[in-house]
Amino acid sequence: MADGPCRYLDIERVRGRVLTPHHPCARPARTDWKQSVDLYEYQARDLFEQYGVPVLAGIVADTPEEVRAAAEKLGGVVVVKAQVKTGGRGKAGGVKVAKTPDEAEEAARAILGLDIKGHVVKRVMVAAGARIAQEFYFSVLLDRANRSYLSLTSVEGGMEIEQLAVEKPEALARIEVDPTVGIDAAKAREIAVAANFPADLVDKVAEVFVKLYEVYKGEDATLVEVNPLILDDDGNVIALDGKVTLDENAEFRHAGHALLEDKAAADPLEAQAKALDLNYVKLDGEVGIIGNGAGLVMSTLDVVAYAGENHGGVKPANFLDIGGGASAEVMANGLGIILGDPQVKSVFVNVFGGITACDQVAKGIVGALAELGSAANKPLVVRLDGNNVVEGRRILEEAAHPLVTLAENMDQGADKAAELANAA
Ligand SMILES: Nc1ncnc2c1ncn2[C@@H]1O[C@H](COP(=O)(O)OP(=O)(O)O)[C@@H](O)[C@H]1O
Ligand SMILES: [Mg+2]
Repeated sequence: MADGPCRYLDIERVRGRVLTPHHPCARPARTDWKQSVDLYEYQARDLFEQYGVPVLAGIVADTPEEVRAAAEKLGGVVVVKAQVKTGGRGKAGGVKVAKTPDEAEEAARAILGLDIKGHVVKRVMVAAGARIAQEFYFSVLLDRANRSYLSLTSVEGGMEIEQLAVEKPEALARIEVDPTVGIDAAKAREIAVAANFPADLVDKVAEVFVKLYEVYKGEDATLVEVNPLILDDDGNVIALDGKVTLDENAEFRHAGHALLEDKAAADPLEAQAKALDLNYVKLDGEVGIIGNGAGLVMSTLDVVAYAGENHGGVKPANFLDIGGGASAEVMANGLGIILGDPQVKSVFVNVFGGITACDQVAKGIVGALAELGSAANKPLVVRLDGNNVVEGRRILEEAAHPLVTLAENMDQGADKAAELANAA
């Protein structure tokens, strides 16, 4: 990568998901990095249980009848909880207390099928009801900017935590956690004290923090969050909700992680791309994007979004990094996925020839178009630069595919692709 100020420092996430575990300028473009996997609450609960974190009994159920049976089995007051990978379920009506199996069944009818921030509820967890005295917040996460771990903790947990973080940031203790030491008993106490836990609770919550850190470390997670961590009427500290994000780069160390992935819930195009080993994330726009190197693709998304403002507000349709070896096969796979997205109206291929020279990339594009045949049915704008660009452009000009337009540079290419998407 070029010397000089780095433009990618703040661009680490697309649609909230971490795409680049390593700073794109710090290493050559990698094609082997993977995304993270968010777990459902019930999966987090099971992991917590394995590590000795106090949790309540919970049974997953997919129908109102199963919910009734689960409520009968648990007995007493239960809470029916939507299992979707988004927060704020409580506020959206996805968490309901039920005093009898009848009420539980009724709650299930209300929750199953509910749309919570675009996630349709297909499964619930029937959890034993807690008698809550106080709600706290605890999380430990990977702090990329500081190349460290960070714990965020508060005695004021619960459903208003986002508001608390904005309106009363001092109520959220931010404590750095040295990855070489982790959260041992002493660190856990430091966190509890910093978060203003009353003296008689410090040891009790610290013990739970240590175990939650063991989950984080032991499972190669990038986030373990508990909100609320509660104190119940009997003085027990219990994790009532759990959010865990696993680092898929470590999946080779965890045979069980593959089972936790929910292939059905993933976007079908993303699932298809994943099967082809492509780094693809579906976005909500019209201009398909293919580039090589995470940093280049990230900035292509920005440039296309910017250009789209002059062309009816079209936006990038996806993130797709085909990495260094942009062979015809990889190019064809990538193009196939992008053209399979009915929202896509044009495609912008933005490649900077490095180790893989532009002539190879150009051959890849020509080969891919031949391979796709009539499936290639949307205009393609291609910008090539870098190693062997003259030969690369010559190959594309010679092929003279009717759908392909060559761009002079990245800005012009983005503008043309946005214009074509808007005109379609
Ligand atoms: N098992 C439970 N027993 C009693 N109350 C619960 C239970 N689980 C959740 N709650 C209550 O519902 C609220 C929201 O539930 P939570 O699991 O945190 O979902 P979300 O964070 O998605 O809103 C919690 O803050 C807590 O007050
Ligand atoms: Mg919660």
